[in-house]
Parts: sequence; C-alpha cells; structure tokens
Amino acid sequence: MAQDIEHEKTPHGERAPACTVVIFGAGGDLTKRLLMPALYNLARTNLLPSNFALIGVDRLEMSDEAFRSHVEESVRAFAADKHYAQTLDEANLKRLLSSMTYLSADFGAAASYVELGKRLEAVKTSHHVNDNVMFYLAVGARFFGGIVDQLGAAGLVNETNNQWRRVVVEKPFGSDLASAQALNTQLRHSLAESQIYRMDHFLGKETVQNIMLMRFANGIFEPLWNRDHIDHVQITVAETVGVEKRAAFYETTGAMRDMMPNHVFQLLALTAMESPASFDADAVRNEKTKVLQSVHRVDAVTDSVRGQYSAGSRDGQALAGYLKEDGVNPGSKTETYVALKLGIDNWRWAGVPFYLRTGKAMAKRQSEIVIQFKRPPFSLFRDTATEALTPNALVIKLQPDEGAMLTFGAKIPGPKIEIGQVHMDFHYKDYFQNAPSTGYETLIYDCMIGDATLFQRSDSVMAGWDIVRPLQEYWADPKAPLAHYAAGSEGPAAADELLGASHRAWRTLT
Ligand code: BG6
Repeated sequence: MAQDIEHEKTPHGERAPACTVVIFGAGGDLTKRLLMPALYNLARTNLLPSNFALIGVDRLEMSDEAFRSHVEESVRAFAADKHYAQTLDEANLKRLLSSMTYLSADFGAAASYVELGKRLEAVKTSHHVNDNVMFYLAVGARFFGGIVDQLGAAGLVNETNNQWRRVVVEKPFGSDLASAQALNTQLRHSLAESQIYRMDHFLGKETVQNIMLMRFANGIFEPLWNRDHIDHVQITVAETVGVEKRAAFYETTGAMRDMMPNHVFQLLALTAMESPASFDADAVRNEKTKVLQSVHRVDAVTDSVRGQYSAGSRDGQALAGYLKEDGVNPGSKTETYVALKLGIDNWRWAGVPFYLRTGKAMAKRQSEIVIQFKRPPFSLFRDTATEALTPNALVIKLQPDEGAMLTFGAKIPGPKIEIGQVHMDFHYKDYFQNAPSTGYETLIYDCMIGDATLFQRSDSVMAGWDIVRPLQEYWADPKAPLAHYAAGSEGPAAADELLGASHRAWRTLT
C-alpha cells in the first residue's frame, strides 16, 4: 500500500519516497529553529512521504512525549512568527508529531548505535517505513567523523534491497584543507561519495538557485557574461548581527572560515560557471568545481583584508565592539570581516577581478552580486566625458530584498544633454507569492529523492579550502594586519582601498 501513495502528485510536486529521518542533535538549536519547521512545511505541502518516521537522537534524557512537545512548540512559534504568520495546519502538524520518537544516546558509544539499529527496525513496523534512512548530523563539527564511524561499524549505512542510506553533514566541513581532507577520508571509510550530502544552506535559498536560472534560461545575459563586457564582479554578504551567543564557535572560526569557502564561494561558482550540459547533479557540480579550481592563487598580502568590528552605532543605537561581546577573549584577533580580490584563470574571465566581502555588525543586512559592465568605449556626446557616463550594472539581490536591478544612463530632461543614472528594479514579491520557508525544505526534500545538485561534492569543498590556504597561512602570523571598522559601518577603509587602487568602489549598502 505504501508504494501506491509514494508517487502521489501534489500541487507542489511529487511526494518523497517512504523513509526514516534520524536527526543527531535533535535537542539543538538548528533542529528547533530550522529543521523541524522545514519538515512541517514539507508535511503541509504534501511533499513529506506518506510513510515516514523520524527518530530524534541526542544526549539528553527525554521521553517521546517530551520530544514531541518540544518540537510542537518550535513549529507553533515558527508559524506565529511575523514573517511567516499563517494558519497552522493542525492535521499535518499532528501527522508529523506522530511520526516522531526519541532516543537518548552517547554519540561515542557503540551501544547507542545498537539501540538505534533496533529502533530503525521497530519503526518499520510501527510507522510502515522501509530501509531508506537519512541520517542528519545537526551536531558540532567535532562529532561528524565519530558518528559516521559508529554508523559504519554498526552496519547502519549499508544499502541493501535497493534502498538508500544517506548522511547529511552540516558545515563547517573541516577548518582548512588538511582537516577537510582528513574528515573526508574518515567519512569515505564508511560511505560512498554518493551517500554524503554536504550541506550549504545558501543553496536552499530561492534567489541563490535563481542565479543559474537567470543566466541560462534567458537569452540576453549570456552573450555579455564575459571579459569582453564585464569590468568586474562584486559579491557581498553583509550581516547586521554581531557574534550573538556564538562566541565559543566564532572565536575559533572567524568570518573567513564561517562564510568564504562555503557560502560566498558557492555564489562565486554560480556566477562564473559555464553552462552545464544538463541539470543533472554531477553536470552542475562539475562546472561549479571547475570555477573554483581555476581561481588564481591569492596573494594574501595585497589581495585580502581582514577586519574586526569595534564600538559603533546603527540608527542612533550604540553597538559594542567585538572584544566586548560575551565570551570573546579581550585580546582576540578573530576576524569578523573579510574582503578578497580573486582572479579566475580561464578564457571567460581572465583579467576580470572578482571582489568578495562578508562581515558581521555592518550597516545593513544585504547579500548581492553586482555585475559591473564596462564603460562605453567613447563618448558620443561632445560635452560629456566618457568617465561621466555611468557604467551599467546588474545587481542580483539575494536578501533581504530579493530581486534584480539593472542600472543604466538616461537623458535628464532639459535643453542640455545630461545623463542621469536610472534603475530597472524587479522585486520577487511583486510577482510571486512567497511561500513560508526556512530554506531547508528543498534541501531535505532533495536528499530524500536523491538529488545532490544543491549539495557540495568533496572536490568543490577541497577547492574552496585550497583557495583560502594562503590567507590562513598569512594570518597565522601574529604580526599580520587586522583592520578595524566601527560596528554599523560598511567595513574597514582597507577594504575600500582594495578596489580604490584600480579606481573602483564597492556598491554602497543601501
Ligand atoms: C551560517 C553562519 O552558516 O550562515 C552564520 O555560520 C551566518 O555566521 C549565517 O550568520 C548566515 O545565513 P543566513 O541564511 O542568515 O543569511
């Protein structure tokens, strides 16, 4: 019977096949804030399998009932959130909650995995599921290798009877090239590459997925998308939040490791990749990886800036500096901002600089990609210097204002020929209804149906770490410069100089 409804078509797509999801870190923040609301949204849109079981695993002692009410609370809070305010779908929430059981476990103890094996057998009867299992590692990175070793030793990741066993690994995947390689070797001891789903939640964002659509589903952009027409590219991921309550994680991670080799480089790869032969997972991932592998070795001294926020203000409100944040070492040199200049050694991009920046405690939350086109080659208008003509820019706005904008010059009305800059501005919300989502729905669903397109393959992760290797080496020197910027500002002056040296400037955070 299960098989009949598995392929049921719903207005949102096809239901995922019967499976069990095991969440390690079921009591944690990620599960509460993002995974559970995402699973609820999948239930609400009838994409969750008809035959479904969820086993929450964590160290705390907790009954099934207590776990369910913990989850219910987070889903209700999510649905009541002002951004998502919607009527709660009680029937689907109830169905989701009834699929859940809880297992208290010691991640390092073999006995816990014997228990987990028994539980997986038990839910086959109680919840009419089969042997398809997704293990979601929503735990600190230090546990990834050990958990997978234990799953392997207990035989829980063996794929039998044509049914799958997949492991979703959250970021960060390693902390540099060597540790990422070591972790990968450890995982590959128990898993095939096709069983590993390396998560980068930026790829779950609609606007990020739209970069490929915009480029390859329209005829007008691609002919201009190259060194003949593009002067440079800017990628910005600016956040207003500071370190929040994450000092323990952030102090040892910093902005570069936290954002560059993963989120920002994914944006870089999608912007610069060649058209894939198909939208098959490996065809897309091949092209993205090639971009990262073609990045010219960064000169850390001249082409990078790291910064740390000091006291400042936003909208008249005083903001503390990083060193005064809870849990931060008062002498910390951890960077909260990074800017990089990269070059890509291929025929499409040779000579076109890519400027990347990301930072905490900045003036605005703004993630965007700016494609800055070249100036017209000469001025047709006698009194207008070529330099005064505004170069065209295509701004792909990722968040929070989702859309795209094209800037160009137009005549200012009047007897004189004067040129002003105007915008053609597209906002997603004007055209499409925004479905309430956490961004994790697509990724969880894709893992269930075995589509790895939006997950990182190991070669791409390694290529990312390889690019930042010179920075890590340079910044390991205690004498390496650390610029400061006021919290609530647009970043350190040194980052402006990175572009200013070639008479370019960052687009203002507006
Ligand atoms: C996470 C980083 O991966 O991404 C955080 O660890 C960062 O430091 C977050 O704030 C940004 O994601 P989003 O979806 O809020 O833009």
